[in-house]
Amino acid sequence: MALREIEERVKRLRREIEYHNYRYYVLDDPEISDAEYDDLIRELGDLEGKYPDLRTPNSPTQRVGAPPLEEFGTVTHTIPMLSLANAMEEGDVIEFDQRIRRLLKTDEEIEYVVEPKLDGVAVELAYERGDLKVGATRGDGITGEEVTQNLRTIKTIPLHLLAKEEPPPERLEVRGEVYMELDDFKVLNKKREESGESLFANPRNAAAGSLRQLDSSVTSQRPLKIFCYGIGEVQGREFESQWEVLQMLPKWGFRMNPLARRCNTIQDTIDYYKEIKGLREEQTYEMDGVVIKVNSFGLQRRLGEVSRSPRWALAYKFPAKEATTKIIDIKAQVGRTGALTPVAEMEPVRIGGVEVKRATLHNQDEIDKKDIRIGDTVVVQRAGDVIPEVVKVIESKRTGAERKFAIPDKCPICGADVVRLPGEAIHRCVGISCPAQLKGRIRHFASKRAMDIDGLGVKLIDQLADKGLVKDIADLYYLGEDDLALLERMAEKSAENLIQALEESKHPHLSRFVYALGIRHVGEHISQVLAQGLKCLDEFFKVTEEELLSIPEIGPEVAQSVVRFFRDRGNRRVIKRLQKAGVEIEEPSEKEEEPLKGRVFLFTGALEGMARNEAKDLVEGLGGEVTSSVGKRVDYVVVGKDPGSKYTKARELDLKIIDEGELRKLVGLT
Ligand code: IVH
Repeated sequence: MALREIEERVKRLRREIEYHNYRYYVLDDPEISDAEYDDLIRELGDLEGKYPDLRTPNSPTQRVGAPPLEEFGTVTHTIPMLSLANAMEEGDVIEFDQRIRRLLKTDEEIEYVVEPKLDGVAVELAYERGDLKVGATRGDGITGEEVTQNLRTIKTIPLHLLAKEEPPPERLEVRGEVYMELDDFKVLNKKREESGESLFANPRNAAAGSLRQLDSSVTSQRPLKIFCYGIGEVQGREFESQWEVLQMLPKWGFRMNPLARRCNTIQDTIDYYKEIKGLREEQTYEMDGVVIKVNSFGLQRRLGEVSRSPRWALAYKFPAKEATTKIIDIKAQVGRTGALTPVAEMEPVRIGGVEVKRATLHNQDEIDKKDIRIGDTVVVQRAGDVIPEVVKVIESKRTGAERKFAIPDKCPICGADVVRLPGEAIHRCVGISCPAQLKGRIRHFASKRAMDIDGLGVKLIDQLADKGLVKDIADLYYLGEDDLALLERMAEKSAENLIQALEESKHPHLSRFVYALGIRHVGEHISQVLAQGLKCLDEFFKVTEEELLSIPEIGPEVAQSVVRFFRDRGNRRVIKRLQKAGVEIEEPSEKEEEPLKGRVFLFTGALEGMARNEAKDLVEGLGGEVTSSVGKRVDYVVVGKDPGSKYTKARELDLKIIDEGELRKLVGLT
């Protein structure tokens, strides 16, 4: 193809992809399958990879995140982003309308627009000639943070506007709310719990936290969405009314909440508020009320604003799902990752039709900040399906008999030490045999990249733990066929297989063994670094924090976590019992050849002659490192069939790209 044709093809692909984005994200009515869409993206990515000059920052391929920032810049909004006056009752709404008519000196009915109010993060997107240039948060309304890179990763934000019905104006600022859907929020928190990270208290915090990441590749992994509801500065087009804006925005590719409606009278807005309130529970996101806006921009201008709120708009809030009750006790609950969460046990109370008797207090800092005590009368809130939380204490109800609570320094389940690592809000139990953590630990211990115990699946682990046959990871190696016969659906053959698999797992490499122990902050890579640095298991028992800090890549968090782990008597006992049962750790010998030492590899796309994990093992076995994030430090990008966006990114960074054949040569297979 001639360069001109390629240029044309790239443009065509972009327009096509933008159109399909619009069908999918704005109209919710896709015309092509996901696979067909992926093909378009892939073709575009390939062309952009081959011809980097054709790449543009607003190409649909550019949603994966950019290099991390040191800090956010600030943006001064051309037109301040105002906030809204709140109404809680119908009377407030009637008054709002009466005031407007008084100010406008009219008896005529005013036309309003009613829109759902979502609780997320307000942002402004500035487009020039249809291209997204800058995106910022509302901030204090005058200046916000420049989060363009992060906003670019949100698929419902158009990077380039559609021009089919009407070309976008020279300059267009669009405002909207970035939010997280309830289901996505739950999945995100579940993942965070599994990896031992602190949980977001609600979808709003999750959205705000995700948007305030300096590394936009983190934001790109967060399920954020946007609903657009207004404009800022516009050059090159006039709008007469809010309704006109709401009709026009989707045509340029912006996502608008379909529940927005025009109402002829204030009574209609109240009726519609009630209707939306009834639909509240059916939505996939949380609404905290509606926004009522005077439709005509001419009237809006005449009304103006007072103290940073427009006189022409009102937030009519839904009743909070709140209630008052008394805290009977506070208990520390131990999760699967060892995190201790303080939970308030309360006198049962109904909130939004559901009986609530427990509420999370998140962590000790939250308890201290809100000064929550046992015996306190508190306001409890339930947001969507989220776990109820204590909002505040009603101090006037204190009698003096209330008691302060502190997370215990011994685990309430197993008695091991509870620690709080620097920089963390969460307390954790360090006990390796803590029954609360047991199942998760066994699962991790047996997993493929750890001890690789084939046949020890989730159901089996549950049974072993529930029946008390396995109380710590060492017990696995003391299981006899008689024990296994006690389990449901455990055919003799599978029992034999499991015992065989356990036998075969008895010679792990030191780094795998250390990884399998599930020490906090010690993932696969750090385990390798530690194994290389300390050489044998005995060293782990003796090593001090200072010594660990002298190993490259080991920081204070890891150092402290490792020393704590190996100093714990229970943990030492378990390791000794593992060794007694015949687990023999293979220690890296000084002489071991490491031709790939210091080399960083990244894989993208499917390899044909071997599995990704096999290739990874080979590289690591020769001292190489495997990473999953594209960056300058990557030495080789191994590209297989159907590579993903990492390939595009790698080409952009001009990294060395090799195929499977070249990889085989490097690892000495051919
Ligand atoms: S209009 C003057 N419309 O509510 C107009 N705001 O306190 C101000 N919000 O920061 C904004 N949905 O984050 C408007 N349909 C909607 C909205 C909305 C949510 C948020 C927005 C703003 C806050 C106003």
